[in-house]
Amino acid sequence: MLRKKFTLIAIDGGAASGKSSTARAIAKRLNYLYVDTGSHYRAVTYLMITKGINPEDPEAVVRCLKEIPFETKIMDQRALVYLNSNHPKESDLRSQKVNDQVSRFAAMSGVRKLLLTYQRNIASIARKQNFDGLIMEGRDIGSIIFPHADYKFFLIADLNTRIERRSLEGHEDSIEQRDRLDSIRHTAPLTCPQGAVKINTSRLTLDAVIEKISSIIESRNI
Ligand code: CDP
Ligand code: CDP
Repeated sequence: MLRKKFTLIAIDGGAASGKSSTARAIAKRLNYLYVDTGSHYRAVTYLMITKGINPEDPEAVVRCLKEIPFETKIMDQRALVYLNSNHPKESDLRSQKVNDQVSRFAAMSGVRKLLLTYQRNIASIARKQNFDGLIMEGRDIGSIIFPHADYKFFLIADLNTRIERRSLEGHEDSIEQRDRLDSIRHTAPLTCPQGAVKINTSRLTLDAVIEKISSIIESRNI
């Protein structure tokens, strides 16, 4: 029997544009593995904070990370990163301290190089685990991690909508500051990747965005 083609989907966009909730729902619908690469940068940042290594010392950051095993465990169709056999709690990954620092660690080319290899390798894990595809979201997925993805989407939403979304979730977040740092960094800046379908989610419900993306994937997969 012919195996279904493995589909690779990249979703990028700024904070609270709707990447993770959309990607998670599509993964469930289409039997894909879901990967939130922001959580990788958050896990690295949380580890550095607990070890007292600060972003002014990129060499110490990379030295430390090179000694640490990066592993992946799959839970509920989601790939979770384990550093030193530990996946931090969601409340730690989304803490104010991590929100404030993550973009500084994420701007380091040494950190991004290590995560690039780790993230690309998750596609092999998804294939081996018999998923029909991989949906990975972040800031540089369609531009750097998987420039040849089968589908690329770039989600945008106006700043006020995004701030309101985060406050409805009960999170304090420095969205504007993170977006700025993410967009001006030299390595893998936040940008709409070439060939991506741009979707403004400001006035769309989550279900409407999911329908829009799913219909594009399903129509081209026939
Ligand atoms: O969920 P939210 O969009 O607020 O942020 P996130 O996806 O958890 O990402 C946290 C931070 O990680 C971003 O602000 C970026 O600094 C960094 N990041 C990145 O540089 N590249 C990625 N592919 C994903 C996240
Ligand atoms: O991953 P990212 O930071 O881009 O955004 P998210 O965590 O998926 O979405 C942030 C919040 O906005 C969540 O509570 C979503 O339910 C909500 N959302 C929305 O209200 N309408 C959309 N079209 C997309 C997301």
